Amino acid sequence: MTNATQPIFSCQGIEIAADAKSIVKGVDLTVHPGEIHALMGPNGSGKSTFATGLMGHPALTVSGRITLNGESVEEMPPHERARRGLFLGFQYPVAIPGVTVASFLRASLNALGKNTTNVFAFRKELEDVFERLGIPWGFADRYLNDGFSGGEKKRLEILQMVMMEPKFVILDEIDSGLDVDALKVVASGINEIAARGAGVLMVTHYQRLLDLVVPTRVHYFMEGKIAFEGEADSVRELEANGYDWLKQKVTGQVADVSITGKSEVHS
Ligand SMILES: Nc1ncnc2c1ncn2[C@@H]1O[C@H](COP(=O)(O)OP(=O)(O)OP(=O)(O)O)[C@@H](O)[C@H]1O
Ligand SMILES: [Mg+2]
Repeated sequence: MTNATQPIFSCQGIEIAADAKSIVKGVDLTVHPGEIHALMGPNGSGKSTFATGLMGHPALTVSGRITLNGESVEEMPPHERARRGLFLGFQYPVAIPGVTVASFLRASLNALGKNTTNVFAFRKELEDVFERLGIPWGFADRYLNDGFSGGEKKRLEILQMVMMEPKFVILDEIDSGLDVDALKVVASGINEIAARGAGVLMVTHYQRLLDLVVPTRVHYFMEGKIAFEGEADSVRELEANGYDWLKQKVTGQVADVSITGKSEVHS
């Protein structure tokens, strides 16, 4: 698919190692404003490493180029990337006892340079977002993620995402462990920020999220690389046939290309 607008996010030649082990082995990805990309792939193929590497996790060695809204961010620490609109939703959000949800959100917004000095206006904005996402208002004054259920934590991740107004969002298995209602909350949050022009990269294992948040493109990871790309429909074939389907696709791609006389599509 071609798109004339400037990408909101792109990366080229991303390679990532952890503890001297090479995990991500050369990934290029481009996302335009309002596009939703899905990243799928078998367990251990490197999806989470890719997601955390893009955010600049200090334990990872990352090489390659990362551009956010036209600016190179690969040399920046994670908080600088966040200030420029990169948001990473964690698979396992951490609890912060002693810090309420409301005060955490306010501090996060302040850290991003957003003005929350009018406490009344801030509470009102918070209340609106809680209501829009169907999150009980009582959560606002509880300690962040402390004693929250798995699904409640995921809803709060989405709430943070919506409030931060990010430009590019990476969500790592945001749909895992969600009940059907929470899945709808999460999906509406993702659709909302995409409609506002953010780019989205969602790591997921299942079709059910993609029924509610229809991806522009699906990228299939295998052994640290994007082995195959397809339209939203391709996920149905994956669900029906498992990752053998993907392996056959990849093998088939090589065969197709060799017929045209071009060689070495992937190593
Ligand atoms: N610090 C590390 N040291 C050594 N190996 C690591 C390290 N971090 C990740 N790995 C390995 O890298 C591979 C990719 O892990 P990653 O968590 O990125 O996979 P994933 O695609 O997200 O899998 P899943 O679908 O199960 O979440 C795994 O084999 C994992 O064991
Ligand atoms: Mg993972």
